Amino acid sequence: MSVIRSGADTGSAEFAANREAMAAKLAELEAEHGKAIAGGGEKYVERHRKRGKLLARERIELLIDEDSPFLELSPLAAWGTNYHVGGSVVTGIGVVEGVECMIVANDPTVKGGASNPSSLKKGLRAAEIAAQNRLPTINLVESGGADLPTQKEIFIPGGATFRNLTTSSAARIPTIALVFGNSTAGGAYLPGMSDYVVMVKERAKVFLGGPPLVKMATGEESDDESLGGAEMHARTSGLADYLAHDEQDAIRIGRGIVKRLNWHKQGPSPKPDYAEPVLDAQDLLGIVPTDLKIPFDPREVIGRIVDGSDFDEFKPLYGTSLVTGWANLHGYPIGVLANAQGVLFSEESQKATQFIQLANQTDTPLLFLHNTTGYMVGKEYEQGGIIKHGAMMINAVSNSKVPHLSVLMGASYGAGHYGMCGRAYGPRFLFAWPSAKSAVMGPAQLAGVLSIVARQAAAGRGQPYDEDADAAMRAMVEQQIEAESLPMFLSGMLYDDGIIDPRDTRTVLGLCLSAIHNGPIRGAEGFGVFRM
Ligand code: COA
Repeated sequence: MSVIRSGADTGSAEFAANREAMAAKLAELEAEHGKAIAGGGEKYVERHRKRGKLLARERIELLIDEDSPFLELSPLAAWGTNYHVGGSVVTGIGVVEGVECMIVANDPTVKGGASNPSSLKKGLRAAEIAAQNRLPTINLVESGGADLPTQKEIFIPGGATFRNLTTSSAARIPTIALVFGNSTAGGAYLPGMSDYVVMVKERAKVFLGGPPLVKMATGEESDDESLGGAEMHARTSGLADYLAHDEQDAIRIGRGIVKRLNWHKQGPSPKPDYAEPVLDAQDLLGIVPTDLKIPFDPREVIGRIVDGSDFDEFKPLYGTSLVTGWANLHGYPIGVLANAQGVLFSEESQKATQFIQLANQTDTPLLFLHNTTGYMVGKEYEQGGIIKHGAMMINAVSNSKVPHLSVLMGASYGAGHYGMCGRAYGPRFLFAWPSAKSAVMGPAQLAGVLSIVARQAAAGRGQPYDEDADAAMRAMVEQQIEAESLPMFLSGMLYDDGIIDPRDTRTVLGLCLSAIHNGPIRGAEGFGVFRM
């Protein structure tokens, strides 16, 4: 056992200030999450209830096993856009009859549940997670289909929604649609492409074209029920496999379908007994300095999220700006890579490359804890081969086949974001703490670079440089980049799977690891050419 001992001065004024700043950010976050939970607002929620219908989250709550957790994903989708926070759909992983499923529930209180560009991105991300981790999908359908004013952004890419359902089925990952209401036009292919379909009597409406469109197209007089009612689909067209009396009945039938899936996880089981961390997770609120330029020891985090705070550090004396080592989390073995001093040098890059290869040799998932300003720049480092060493690390991360998890704790800048398995490097899940920041570089550095380039260009043209305009430009750019590097903004763009309370990190990662183990865990057989 190598139990991490904390060196954090939890009674210091600095710790208290960090904790206070984090608490303020968490309060802001809660308010934003509240917007997603409020859906379309009181008026639409009230109308929905008056129709005797359950809200999206109530449907989910009834669907999942009693007292089991629901890992909601992308709750802040659309934050910072003109669309409702949450994107008119709720997605997440819930346990149904003991099976972890991807649940996708339209929120009919937001624009009739119509899909806007953020809803689409969120749905596609949920499908990606389901495919990568081999999770059955349950769609809780009640949607006005495409958000018509934004059709240009969603019609063409939105086709993937239906393709994903059938490719999931081909991969023997079941798909289930419980239809509670409207599912028209393109939306009709949600049940159309699913393995199992349940429709609620007198509520489900599934047709390619409603009565007005049919009248326009063929002149035929029709009504909702004969065109796409649940009874019709259950008795005549055969699109519905089950006819439910009401919403609760549909959920009960849905649970029954999952029970009969004969589902087996393909990954190894976790160790049956494991210890909780020795160090207190509450302290995670005070670990990250309010000023991200001040480094912090990631062992203080690792010791608060891994089983028994037990961490076997690998190469502790080499490349000390990156901490690497082995641990268990909720009984699952993991390798951890965590930034310590912010900057990645050649040694850290080589150490990471070796460590990632070792994890692949032993089929061990990897956790990346980000707090990096990127790879070191400067003559000495360029001449020392920082590009090729950084490239080695990025090669290893890219070609590694074991599941990756990423948590942005603090800074995640430049190519450091890539090397530490940022979004584009396909981590199975990526979460951010409220303290995180991510951008091509820091706001001051970026504004400074622009200023130097503009100054040189003016000199080249033989023109005087306007210092006042430069100062104004710098202030404006700094402000813009700062706003764009904040987690809510990035979450709104679907660049993470959610912003989490640091104290929930262990639980969230445990849920993710459990979900990941629905699929096999197998390391890479080979990597690309490493530049030596
Ligand atoms: N695109 C954009 N906005 C839509 C929409 C869509 N597809 N469907 C509904 N909305 C909007 C409505 O304009 C309304 O906006 P408002 O409250 O700001 O005026 C809001 O969502 C609620 O719609 P409403 O019709 O009042 O809700 P409802 O619960 O009574 O009915 C539907 C919901 C989905 C049955 C109905 O809105 C409908 O038939 N929509 C069009 C469905 C369709 O043909 N889609 C084809 C897309 S491929």
